[in-house]
Formats: sequence, structure tokens, C-alpha cells
Amino acid sequence: MTSFVKVLKDPVHDEILVEDPWVWRLINTAALQRLRRIRQLGTSYLTFHGAEHSRFTHSLGAYETMRRVLIQLERECGWPRDERDRKLALSAALLHDVGHGPFSHTFEAVYPVHHEQWTRRILLEDDELATVLGEVDDAFADDLVGVLEKRGRFPIVEQLISSQLDVDRMDYLLRDAMNTGVSYGRFELARLIRSLSLAGDQVVLKASGLHTVEQYILARYFMYTQVYFHPVTVGSDVLVMQILRRAGEVWQAGGMEDMPPELTVFWRGSADQVRVQDYLAIDESTLVYAFHCFARSADVVLADLARRFLHRRLLAPVIRPEPTQEEWAALRTAARALGFHPDYYISGRASAVAGYVYRGEGISVLMADGRVSELSRESKLVRSLVPESEYRLFLPKEMIEGDTPVHERVRSILGMHASRVGAGASAAKPEPDDRP
Ligand code: NI
Repeated sequence: MTSFVKVLKDPVHDEILVEDPWVWRLINTAALQRLRRIRQLGTSYLTFHGAEHSRFTHSLGAYETMRRVLIQLERECGWPRDERDRKLALSAALLHDVGHGPFSHTFEAVYPVHHEQWTRRILLEDDELATVLGEVDDAFADDLVGVLEKRGRFPIVEQLISSQLDVDRMDYLLRDAMNTGVSYGRFELARLIRSLSLAGDQVVLKASGLHTVEQYILARYFMYTQVYFHPVTVGSDVLVMQILRRAGEVWQAGGMEDMPPELTVFWRGSADQVRVQDYLAIDESTLVYAFHCFARSADVVLADLARRFLHRRLLAPVIRPEPTQEEWAALRTAARALGFHPDYYISGRASAVAGYVYRGEGISVLMADGRVSELSRESKLVRSLVPESEYRLFLPKEMIEGDTPVHERVRSILGMHASRVGAGASAAKPEPDDRP
């Protein structure tokens, strides 16, 4: 037996144990260390000031959750049977987010390459990572990609990495709840892990864990409605998107005086022409530095959008039904009259919160009589969680608050009365970090 052990202190799991020097080498690759410079929750720190934790801390947490799940399944069912499967499960948990870019989902919306595609390319094309993965055997990196893409060859590992009851969610719900300071994201992780078992190739929950999994599903539901889709956060994402869009256009027109060269590779050609090392060179520090450059730009729209982000003068969310064509046209006219380019300053988004999804990939429950049931069949509470959607319109506060007839017109289109401006212009939900 080897005496190798590294103990990492962690706010969620107390201690993260690394007992395999190979895992330690994975942790120390530049590709994984880069995740220290990418926040787990993107722009959420503009809403919840504590949400500064990185994807690196979450990756370690997902690894530790997997390590504990493996101990449980080994005790309960004698799985994993060999060292290779154990390495596959641990490295998949550690590396599942390695392809994320800065302000992930927003970045993906502007440059149409999904982070999962980058994960695959990084695992196969990054020299340092490929070397460490290749220490196991020549097929290992490809099998790892197969697990993350759910190709079906390693069903147990695949379910543990990506299903409605996976180590990714178990860690991020607890970590995001802790860092945002909300209490409704909590659930009993140790008890949930003790409830896990296997029925053939299927990961199942023992019926004794029903209430624990209900708590976990509710935690997820609350985190989506109250944190992940908070209107102020969604508005911040919209702003980042508009900045990147405008910056690309200014650059294409030859009007960009100063910006980090790393960012321009995406504007030169299609995404598959971008090399892995170019993608890995971009993190949130690069992007925020770019925003500082944009704030000095001669292009007034770009400079203003960048300053709004840096100084947190965000777009105001207005929760209302989607505007009709006539209302859109009137809002655009009003924006122009008030000096705002309508293409960059007004936009809308519907945010949909999935309830518990039981079609296809529900959570399997192992009943006392040995049959496998499906969670929503066994839990009334879970059944009651139906998907919800909310439409939000984003526009500058300066378009709503003012005494001119144009402001009055905007308020009337939005269905606001003068006396209600304050309440209507900000979010209907509590704003933990709202400025006075
Ligand atoms: Ni994750």
C-alpha cells in the first residue's frame, strides 16, 4: 500500500482526500488550475456578493463526492470491481467541467461552441492532460470522453456523473447555497450517499432514502428559482452578451484600439479553427481586462456597456409578459429618443425552471420488495414540481425613471404607474446586493 495522501480543507466537505498520486497529477495540470480563474456561478456575484467561488473548488468537491459514493457502492455492492473503473469515475468527476469558459453560458451564446465540445477537445488535445491520462492506458482518454458524452459503455459511471442524482449536482447545490448564503439549497449529503445502491447497471436509491432525496430535489428547485435564474443575474448575463457582441462588431469594423489579443481568435474564423491552447488562454481575468479596455473605447455604446458591467449599473429587469410587436416597436422608438441603441439596450428572455423530470431519466427507487420504481411515482411532493417559466424584459433604469413624456410612455407600455416605478423597475424577488 502506498502512503501517499493529500488532505485539502474544504468549506463544504471539510476534508478532500487525494490518495492516488495520479489524481494529484491531474489536479496540478494547467488545464484544471485554470478553473481557479473561472467563477462557478458566472455573473451571480453581482447579485449574491458571496458567489465568488471557482469552478476549481467545485471540481474538487465533485471528485470528493464521487470518492465517498465509491466507498458506499463498494461496501454495498462490490463496485467498482477494478482500479481502472475507479480511476475513470474519479477523473470524470474531477474533469467534467474542464471545458468551461469565462461567464460560461453567456460566452457560449456569443461564440457558438458548447463547453462540452471544449471538454472533449481539451481531454484529447491538451498535451499535458493527455500525457497524465495516457499513464493509465492508451484508450483511457477516449473512454473518459465517452463517459462525459454518455456513450453508454460505462453506464454506472455515466449515471454518477450526469443524471438527476449525480455527484456534480450534489456538490454544486451545497457549494452554491453556502457561498450565496441561502439556506434552502441544503440537504443531507452523507445520508443521501448512504441511500445509494445498484440494481444491475442502474444506480438506485433505497426506499429508506426517500425523504432525503425529496429534500435534495426541493433544494435544487429553490436554487433554480431563487439563485440561478435570479432576474438581476440574468440581466448581468444579457449585459455581458451585448458587450461581446458589440466588441466583435467594433473589432470587425477595425475600430478597436486596445484589447487582449487572446480574445480576437474567436472573431477571426470559425470555432473549430481555434486551437485548444488559445481557448485555455481565456479565463475571467482576460475577459474583465478586456472590459477595462472596452470602457476606454471611442465607441460610445461599447464604452458605456463595459462601464455598466464594471461599475454594476446593470440593466433593470421588468417581469411581465413578452411584449407584442407594437410594444416592441414603441419601446425601440423610446430608446432611440432617450439616446440608447435599441439593439444593445433592450432585450427579453424567458427563464424556464424544470421541475423534476421523470420521462426517460428519472431517479430509480429500490423498493423494500425488490422492485425498482420511479421517484415521482413514490413521492407526491416531487410530483407536484412542475416546470415554470417567467419572462423578463431588460432595459436601462434611465429609460424608466424620469419625468419626460417619453419616460411616461415607456412606463405605460410596461404597465407601470408612476408611483410603482421603484418596485416595478427592480426585481419582484428580493435583491440581496441591491444598491441604495
Ligand atoms: Ni459541474
